[in-house]
Amino acid sequence: MNKKKYDFSVWDVSGVYAGPGGKLWELLMGEQIHVGGADQTDVLARKVGLDKDEDIYLLDICSALGGPARHLAEKYGTKVVGLDITPEMIEEAKKRTDGKPFANKIEYRLGSALDIPDHSNTFDIVWGQDAWCYIRDKPRLMKEVNRVLKSEGLLGFTDWIWGSVDAPEVDADYLMEFMVFPDMQTLDGYNKLIERVGLVLKENEDLGDDFAKHMDDYISILKKNKENIIAGFGEELYLEAEKGVLAWQTAAKNKWVGRGLWIAKKP
Ligand SMILES: C[S@@+](CC[C@H](N)C(=O)[O-])C[C@H]1O[C@@H](n2cnc3c(N)ncnc32)[C@H](O)[C@@H]1O
Repeated sequence: MNKKKYDFSVWDVSGVYAGPGGKLWELLMGEQIHVGGADQTDVLARKVGLDKDEDIYLLDICSALGGPARHLAEKYGTKVVGLDITPEMIEEAKKRTDGKPFANKIEYRLGSALDIPDHSNTFDIVWGQDAWCYIRDKPRLMKEVNRVLKSEGLLGFTDWIWGSVDAPEVDADYLMEFMVFPDMQTLDGYNKLIERVGLVLKENEDLGDDFAKHMDDYISILKKNKENIIAGFGEELYLEAEKGVLAWQTAAKNKWVGRGLWIAKKP
């Protein structure tokens, strides 16, 4: 299994989201920038018990445009802190939240997932959707998650992962370079990281088949919007995006890559 790490720094990643990359991903996925949009947010919400209408304090690590934060605050009344390292994302998230009737339930913070700007034992839920593949130091991320969770608190997240079949190295390198991912885990790799910090794994799910179907959708959306993308960002970026998403589509069908979901509890 290829578990090579790649030399992308947090600033390389942040540069993607400060520039056209963030806008392109929003075009493909919507303002909730993860596979499955609002439906997947509801799936994760149910699994961590948000539909039980309690007073819950949740940290969304890598909150991007704040799409999930707004959805959770509006639908479940959740109090959300959205943490993101990219100033442009935080600014845009604030702009899209200001004036909404649930705006007082959301706070956005500029900061790193590897040094979470919060006291220990603060959150009922720590949450992440399709973003931790951008974080190289996963052991430190998990230590931070564990630190800020309250006792009995839940971790719920989804992420892009290596699949059950090894990707040829040249393909693996291209997939990671296209996405600017410094590190992807396997399903079991995350299980070990979770358990190593003392969290108790409650559930994990391999979402690889669903991931492959969504890659087909992203290709269609990209092709349908070809003219607009070229007009807005130039032909070079369009061609690069098409090549990259096609490579991810092939990789998903070959089970080289996939997506997973994890729920864990702090004792
Ligand atoms: C795919 S987007 C996240 C999408 C979001 N979870 C959603 O569902 O809408 C990735 C985000 O991770 C942020 N990010 C990357 N590395 C980070 C880090 N080390 N700390 C905090 N945020 C980070 C980026 O700035 C970007 O906004």
